[in-house]
Amino acid sequence: MILDELNFAELYRQQMQQAGRTTKAPEHWDARAEKMAEVCANPQDPYLVQLQSKIDLRNASTLLDMGCGPGSVCLNLAGSLTRVWGVDYSRGMLEVAGRRAAAMGLQNVTLLNKSWEDDWTEIPECDIAVASRSTLVADLQQALIKLNNKARLRVYTTHTVATSFVDVAVQRAVGRPVVELPNYIFAVNILYQLGIHPKVDYIRGPNCQNKTESFEQFSESVSWSLGTLDDTELQRLFDFYQQKKRMGQVIVPPSRDWALVYWDKTQTL
Ligand SMILES: C[S@@+](CC[C@H](N)C(=O)[O-])C[C@H]1O[C@@H](n2cnc3c(N)ncnc32)[C@H](O)[C@@H]1O
Repeated sequence: MILDELNFAELYRQQMQQAGRTTKAPEHWDARAEKMAEVCANPQDPYLVQLQSKIDLRNASTLLDMGCGPGSVCLNLAGSLTRVWGVDYSRGMLEVAGRRAAAMGLQNVTLLNKSWEDDWTEIPECDIAVASRSTLVADLQQALIKLNNKARLRVYTTHTVATSFVDVAVQRAVGRPVVELPNYIFAVNILYQLGIHPKVDYIRGPNCQNKTESFEQFSESVSWSLGTLDDTELQRLFDFYQQKKRMGQVIVPPSRDWALVYWDKTQTL
């Protein structure tokens, strides 16, 4: 079979390399923790509402939320479970998650400071394992195997549908080399090659970082993803923004779609 000649785990690593994507230090996320709590962890966030409606908690009493950030998934589901574990390599994110858990009066949340790459012996097996918007790791195959090994009943992972966080037209306008990242198709194929046949669903909705009402909001959201823009880049972005406004066009596509790649743990690796 021709497809078997392709090693998707390796293709994923190559795509990450081609994108010049180096593993981000936890400090990168520490700096984003407060803002993420505000914009992405809000229980009414359309992404979270949709994701949670698709997570089947039947017969489940424990949940592992890997790359939990400000506790977006585990805190909202803690009320329906006996115990939840939130794991993240960013201490800043865990601090925010801990503060939010206390404010919500939750007593059944354990937060662990670990990375995808660490030894996971300390992380308990849970009925449900989730990795939400936290799957852009250096080695996706290893990550999926580790997550699968910690789940008793079901595994839920989300991945981008698009191949870039910042619209390609915006990257071009700013003058940066266009960077494209591996999207959910890699996850589906890696799992297939591991002998797992996942289901795929889509979470569609507004991009929680996509504010374009004013240029300040727009440039802030672009530099959130691309890093600080220098004066020339900022001017180019401004020209792009003004031109789009003048022509009555949308600045960037208003939604960011996520693919939910999920499976039952009836299959062993
Ligand atoms: C976009 S946030 C998602 C947070 C949350 N799961 C959500 O859906 O709102 C990505 C999270 O993954 C964490 N992360 C990124 N790389 C990681 C790694 N190698 N090990 C552990 N956590 C990681 C970051 O610290 C951050 O909290």
